[in-house]
Amino acid sequence: MKKKALYAGSFDPFTNGHLDIVNRALSIFDEIYIVIAVSPSKKPFLERSVRRELLTELFKGDPRVKVDTWDGLLVDYARENEIKSIVRGLRPTGDFEFEFQMASMNRKLNPECETVFFATGEKLYYISSSLVKDVFTHGGDISEFVPDIVREELLKKRRS
Ligand code: COA
Repeated sequence: MKKKALYAGSFDPFTNGHLDIVNRALSIFDEIYIVIAVSPSKKPFLERSVRRELLTELFKGDPRVKVDTWDGLLVDYARENEIKSIVRGLRPTGDFEFEFQMASMNRKLNPECETVFFATGEKLYYISSSLVKDVFTHGGDISEFVPDIVREELLKKRRS
């Protein structure tokens, strides 16, 4: 049976920090489902359909990576797709308490699903999607922080 994992987030935009987590999770799991979920408190910068297209394009050469969107609870997505692991990246910048809470709540809601944490890469720990957006909207160079395809999309958005 394939070992599947769910990696969810708003990915607005998807960064090299996220990519690092996906690549490392692929060394342990057979399939990763990247799910663009909804964070009610966040106003979208890139449309969700655009984020989905970008991720589909980014991983089109790797059949182990599936890209999807979901509006409900993560644990329900996991149940529907027979996924037993939720992958999360853990940065040393205050993630722990919230992640602990979410992992505990998700386990309560679906005891068959465990959360697996990856310590973020030491070169990427300070990245967040908001910071990338901030640097970008102020004219800074984000090429180190996001995949090329994401940078190109952001530049396109700036020009339109
Ligand atoms: N590298 C770079 N940045 C990272 C990162 C990494 N490895 N890991 C996290 N981040 C950043 C993200 O870019 C994001 O930045 P931002 O706040 O500036 O946008 C921030 O850290 C928070 O990321 P994350 O914790 O993944 O939050 P999110 O808002 O992207 O996603 C969901 C949160 C979607 C996972 C959560 O709201 C959810 O599970 N929703 C579904 C509904 C549900 O099941 N709710 C019950 C939960 S118990």
